[in-house]
Amino acid sequence: MVSLLRLIAAAICLTLSLAHAIPARNYGNRWNIARRSVSLDLTRNPDYAPNGPAAYARALKKWGAEVPSELVHSLAAMKANVGEVGAASIRGDREFLSRVGYGTPPQYLDVDFDTGSSDVWVYTSETRKHVAGGRPVWVIEDSKTAKRVHNATWMIAYGDGSHAWGNVYKDTLSIGNITLPAAVIESATSASLSLTNDPDIDGIFGLAYGLPSQTEPQQPSVLSALTPLLSAPVFTADLQYHSSCGAYTFGYIDHARHTANTTIHYTPLVADATFWQFGYTGLHVGGQNVWYLSERWTAIADTGTTLLLLGADVVELYYATGVPGARHNTSIGGIWTYPCAGPALPDFEIGMANGWVATVPGRFMNYSVMPDDPATCMGGLQTFGLADFGIFGDIFLKAVYAVFDVGGARIGFADKPLDLE
Ligand SMILES: *[C@@H]1O[C@H](CO)[C@@H](O)[C@H](O)[C@H]1NC(C)=O
Ligand SMILES: *[C@@H]1O[C@H](CO)[C@@H](O)[C@H](O)[C@H]1NC(C)=O
Ligand SMILES: *[C@@H]1O[C@H](CO)[C@@H](O)[C@H](O)[C@H]1NC(C)=O
Ligand SMILES: *[C@@H]1O[C@H](CO)[C@@H](O)[C@H](O)[C@H]1NC(C)=O
Ligand SMILES: *[C@@H]1O[C@H](CO)[C@@H](O)[C@H](O)[C@H]1NC(C)=O
Repeated sequence: MVSLLRLIAAAICLTLSLAHAIPARNYGNRWNIARRSVSLDLTRNPDYAPNGPAAYARALKKWGAEVPSELVHSLAAMKANVGEVGAASIRGDREFLSRVGYGTPPQYLDVDFDTGSSDVWVYTSETRKHVAGGRPVWVIEDSKTAKRVHNATWMIAYGDGSHAWGNVYKDTLSIGNITLPAAVIESATSASLSLTNDPDIDGIFGLAYGLPSQTEPQQPSVLSALTPLLSAPVFTADLQYHSSCGAYTFGYIDHARHTANTTIHYTPLVADATFWQFGYTGLHVGGQNVWYLSERWTAIADTGTTLLLLGADVVELYYATGVPGARHNTSIGGIWTYPCAGPALPDFEIGMANGWVATVPGRFMNYSVMPDDPATCMGGLQTFGLADFGIFGDIFLKAVYAVFDVGGARIGFADKPLDLE
């Protein structure tokens, strides 16, 4: 069912792009380049690295000479080191799903790319039937290349209390056009109800910066094995509000996905980072005069968390100054709610240490209607227990183009157009 919905959604993205087809300019391949204005075609790609061998092949073709087959093969191999994988919104942006191939031949499953953890696990033919439910699983026996890592096990407990565990395999992963051989894939023999209750997710694909995977004995994380193979040691996330047109790219920055005349604004990760953790210095509630500043704030960029979570004091400032009728409802664990019929929520601005300001639009800040009360809405900004620490989940990431620069130990953000969604 999910697969079908995703096919339809992908077809819509494709139709849009064909309707506005822009003459070819190859920034890495993608189908919804049409969300840009045509003027983008005239801007230069600031990070463009010339590909000498490709230029040579083009020159040979142009002058009618035969392109040596070795050159064709080596160009194909170079191209294979970048990949794009769609990111489809599920159930009002609760999560985004991406399709990854497991084993040989690839069995495609819909997984949640999670920059907040490091384990790559899926439901498999080993998963107890009542745990896997009706979802597709990785049938290990059907892969010609699967190898059990004997005596290795894994067990993960996420911040929300959910957990999963099982056996460890090595097998090929197909991530867009990238083929990663002998990747450590964790097979879930079981998982907690909070995970299995989500029928859309076939597994979680951890992409934390340097966190070891929760395997015993310790196995290398997929990101650490993947990075050296990439054309450039980066991956990017373009999550899109209530849309299936978002994407992750691996090995390249897709400049067609951010605003044409902006550059990527990088912030270094904190020292000894295990997560994608970096400092930010300012917060501003739209329509107010005051900026709140601190030198102590850090946050992690976490594609696997739905909400934007910050310290109690700044969250209260947002709702107290910007949202009439907002309540911190302690009887439901301290969730901030407000009347759905109230005025539009204000934008929320976050200033990075490098001076760049991310704007999360007010309509992104209005996350959902309360399940038990259609007149009450719940904000996308909620409280996290630690005063100076934040989790920039999807509410934030949907508002930016995010570059996870593994090689540079930094994270980059750029504006992207948000108006067509
Ligand atoms: C992946 O490969 C297909 C088929 O060769 C090609 O059309 C597509 O552009 C490639 N995508 C990327 C991101 O390299
Ligand atoms: C697995 O563990 C058992 C018992 O500890 C041991 O006898 C066996 O040699 C181990 N196998 C491998 C492949 O490490
Ligand atoms: C970038 O483009 C936008 C419109 O797309 C324009 O408003 C803005 O002034 C431009 N900025 C620069 C620095 O050229
Ligand atoms: C808190 O939430 C509960 C459950 O949605 C609701 O019944 C109650 O009225 C709310 N309290 C306030 C003060 O809004
Ligand atoms: C919040 O979003 C809901 C739909 O999810 C909408 O019905 C409601 O009017 C919005 N409220 C505000 C204050 O933006």
